[in-house]
Amino acid sequence: AFNKGKMLLAQEGRDMWHSNFVKMPCSPSSFMVKSGMMKSPSQVKRWEVICKQLKALASKTEVDVERVQEAILKYNPKYKTEWSFDALSSFVQSIPKPENYSCSLFPKIAALALDLPKHVKKGIPLLRSGQTAAVTLSQLQIACLLANAFFCTFPHRNTSKPNSEYHGYPSINFTSLFGKWSQRSKEKLRAVMHYFKVVTETKPKGLVTFQRQCLKDVDRPDWKSCAASMPKLHVTSGGSIEAEGTGLLQVDFAACQIGGGVLGSGLLQEEILFLMNPELIVARLFTEKLADNESLIITGSQKFSCYSGFRDSFEWAGPHYDTLKRDNWARLERQIVAIDALHFKHRSEQYNMSKINRELNKAFCGFKGQGHETPDIATGKWGCGAFNGDPELKALIQLMAAGKARRGLAFFTFRDETLKRNLEQIYTLLVKREITVGQLYELLENYCAILRAQPGDHVDLFKFIENTLGPSR
Ligand code: APR
Repeated sequence: AFNKGKMLLAQEGRDMWHSNFVKMPCSPSSFMVKSGMMKSPSQVKRWEVICKQLKALASKTEVDVERVQEAILKYNPKYKTEWSFDALSSFVQSIPKPENYSCSLFPKIAALALDLPKHVKKGIPLLRSGQTAAVTLSQLQIACLLANAFFCTFPHRNTSKPNSEYHGYPSINFTSLFGKWSQRSKEKLRAVMHYFKVVTETKPKGLVTFQRQCLKDVDRPDWKSCAASMPKLHVTSGGSIEAEGTGLLQVDFAACQIGGGVLGSGLLQEEILFLMNPELIVARLFTEKLADNESLIITGSQKFSCYSGFRDSFEWAGPHYDTLKRDNWARLERQIVAIDALHFKHRSEQYNMSKINRELNKAFCGFKGQGHETPDIATGKWGCGAFNGDPELKALIQLMAAGKARRGLAFFTFRDETLKRNLEQIYTLLVKREITVGQLYELLENYCAILRAQPGDHVDLFKFIENTLGPSR
């Protein structure tokens, strides 16, 4: 993932840093490194201020939100008037007794954050766009990095300004989670605080791997001539990917910036997944925006919480005790693949072969095995909520990608009985007629051509296929 020849030596209390590594709260600045000096006065000074503030918090048994706010703003003085801590403060005031442990937890999170130079000695390589590369971290390192994100110690990322250093990377500091008070922020904070409570009580012991997978042009399937047959399919309207899909490769309906709105107000499939498995959030630290031909596979993350509801009805529903086995690398046997669907402003945009090719390649990039064990895939209405996709089309796209990858699909329609019925029916027809992935691709081409020829006159995809192939009986 990086040029070893360029690596800098680690110093006591600092990580190695150059432009292929995450800039840490204790990193020297790029200018100083380039000019041959290892220490940047401004960075070192900032880390000193952070240490002083966090040590003061860590030495107490209880601290209130005002103290936390004061500390954070001491080393982020530029944001004194911008950052609000309303949500954090209302959270602590409103949360009922049994969960009202935040004030005694803040010092423990501060102590964990202070251990950064001890736990992360060698720096963390960035997972850059265009490179197939992996980062493996211990769960303890992740906890320590997330404790730093909680205390907003990472150097500010100007994510929106083109050409800025972290343009194309997601944000990592938790500031946006602390600002605006709402039912959503309350439930999010319950999940986050629960995570920190568990990891500060008992040090987690395993490893987690984050693998960026890039589908090279030469590996791109020729979909039209693909002779693979339909994969195994199990469709269910009950349950969810993460609960009933245990042991399978679980699809994260991702944003190209991994984690989407998890640190903001978003509360859809991806954000909920990240709140239940907060170790996933650390991917935001080093994963550059996913390109069209890329996916991120995360192996070994722990599930800490349960939930109910979705979006505004989402509630943190208590602890989850993970009983999954660990592999030879001490990673929990949970594998999640983040693939970001296209976001269609107008639904009609998706019935276009260039868009369909993009979605096929994206799904295939996530589904294609890495040589060793390839469990079946747990997925559902990928790209069909916030991203406005057609569930019938997306189901077939995922079926084709799974067929090419030679893996079965468990499809969770999330209480959509009609889709369950129709998908089972069309699948039976495709299997009966021995339709290959390539033939299905041609059917999609014909379907798009028909829609193009009669704009405004929408024909249902499954009906079109049934009419073309004849009924399954
Ligand atoms: N298991 C199975 N199906 C689910 C689950 C689940 N746990 N959660 C939701 N669904 C179903 C719902 O029917 C939902 O409408 O999947 C549909 C699509 O979910 P979205 O999260 O809206 O996915 P998508 O359209 O791909 O939007 C992705 O939302 O969460 C953000 O960061 C993400 O920006 C990205 C966008």
